Amino acid sequence: MAIEHPSFGKLDDNRIIIFDTTLRDGEQSPGFSMNIEEKLRMAEALAELGVDVMEAGFPIASVGDFDSVLSIAKHFSKDGPVVCGLARTAPADILRAAKAVRPAARKRIHSFVSTSPLHMRVKLRLEPEEVLELVTSSVSLARQHTDDVEWSAEDGTRTDPDFLCRCVEAAIKAGATTINIPDTVGYAVPEDMHRIFTMVRERVPGADRIVLSTHNHNDLGLAVANTLAAIQAGVRQVEATINGIGERAGNASLEEVAMALRTRSDAIPVRNGVVSENILRTSKLLATITGFDVQPNKAIVGRNAFAHESGIHQDGVLKDASTYEIMTPESVGWTTNSLVLGKHSGRAAFRDKLKALGYGDVGDNQLNDAFRRFKDLADRKKVVYDEDVVALVDDEVVRGHDRVKLTALTVATGLNTKPMATLALEVDGDRRDGMATGDGAVDATFAAIRNAFPHEVALKLYAVQSVTGGTDAQARVTVRLEENGKLVDGQGADTDTIVASARAYVHALNKLLVKRERTAPAEQFAARSA
Ligand code: KIV
Ligand code: ZN
Repeated sequence: MAIEHPSFGKLDDNRIIIFDTTLRDGEQSPGFSMNIEEKLRMAEALAELGVDVMEAGFPIASVGDFDSVLSIAKHFSKDGPVVCGLARTAPADILRAAKAVRPAARKRIHSFVSTSPLHMRVKLRLEPEEVLELVTSSVSLARQHTDDVEWSAEDGTRTDPDFLCRCVEAAIKAGATTINIPDTVGYAVPEDMHRIFTMVRERVPGADRIVLSTHNHNDLGLAVANTLAAIQAGVRQVEATINGIGERAGNASLEEVAMALRTRSDAIPVRNGVVSENILRTSKLLATITGFDVQPNKAIVGRNAFAHESGIHQDGVLKDASTYEIMTPESVGWTTNSLVLGKHSGRAAFRDKLKALGYGDVGDNQLNDAFRRFKDLADRKKVVYDEDVVALVDDEVVRGHDRVKLTALTVATGLNTKPMATLALEVDGDRRDGMATGDGAVDATFAAIRNAFPHEVALKLYAVQSVTGGTDAQARVTVRLEENGKLVDGQGADTDTIVASARAYVHALNKLLVKRERTAPAEQFAARSA
């Protein structure tokens, strides 16, 4: 029977709603926090990827979270995704989420409460009947602010089946239009998922009028398998994140679910709106923003996902790619036309290349800055690959709103010489000069930054990766800083590793400044749920 949904109208039986939670559950993993501009940039990319619902944050958690959800809510028209805010059951939580999503053309409030015996006893210290009341009161309040309300049974897969059915029934009666049964701790196996959703569909009155949703954590590496099992049991909303980021071992990876559904539509005949060709650039943008690359053998988006090393495999692929490839690299955004532009290429060619890479919407200022850096790169680097252009533009997008900018840097170093860095920063438009020596070129550079712009932070991580191969390859550097327990990651890319390092440090510093301004005492931040 087709479902009449407040945001999607009549839903075909085989239409899967893609609910992205990169900006909420994904962002909850340590070190993956994003500032408001980065979240907006990600939100645009997710919309271009074709997600149906975007969980933009947990508005009660902090002022920063609230502001991010609010600005994403304001950003999209009715053709864009549904913008969703998460809330616990307390009225203050729900009202905060309601306020944050209010400007959205299409909005959802997602309320949740734990239903497993362990969580109710230890975490909530509530009796089951009290939890049932909270289900009803929270969903009813959310419904006063939007017709599109999702309710989740936290730790649902470890919940007593009878109690789970009672909670789901109460949520539907109170007006929930989507019911999510998360595998919060990544404990379930695919058979469990199939059994639980089949039970809910068979036993709960009204379950055929709402959308059932699955949300799986990857503690046993089963998140995608569990997601597919849930779909086979009739679930029509999938919650997932780009690159599978999320609490602990992460969530089901959106790109893996989307490609499994596309590649095996013979086995699971459903459809969804993901524009698969945009997958790789969305994954790379997230990696650039957070500073965490996926592992090389990560399905779909890892560097080796379509690489063939053994002679036998290479021979097969050359004869017919389908011998060892079950999907084409192009179908997820890998390009074969890697060699792109040279130092004589003009702005028009550069803009065309950006469009081909999916950056049609880069503003004029960003385009000019990126073009200037491209020319500089083309002067220094023999060949400029697509990956170089992506690194450069993402780098520019990421630092578009920075208050502190690196404007000059010289480092003198060598054998038996104490390395010395001299640099200039622009801080809110004012020039500041710095100079320092250090135990190495990078150490001297970071000391010079502190000399130009005094601050006290702890350097927690310094990592260098190569964007492409060769000695003239761009380095992508990640720097993690800590201030008063707050962690931020900064990124920088350049053919010169020291320049990339300085950019990464300055980027992290800018994020700290934003955090200082935006983070208000988070209400029970630590009590955030998975
Ligand atoms: O894992 C979980 O249970 C969650 C809920 C808030 C949906 O993230
Ligand atoms: Zn979760």
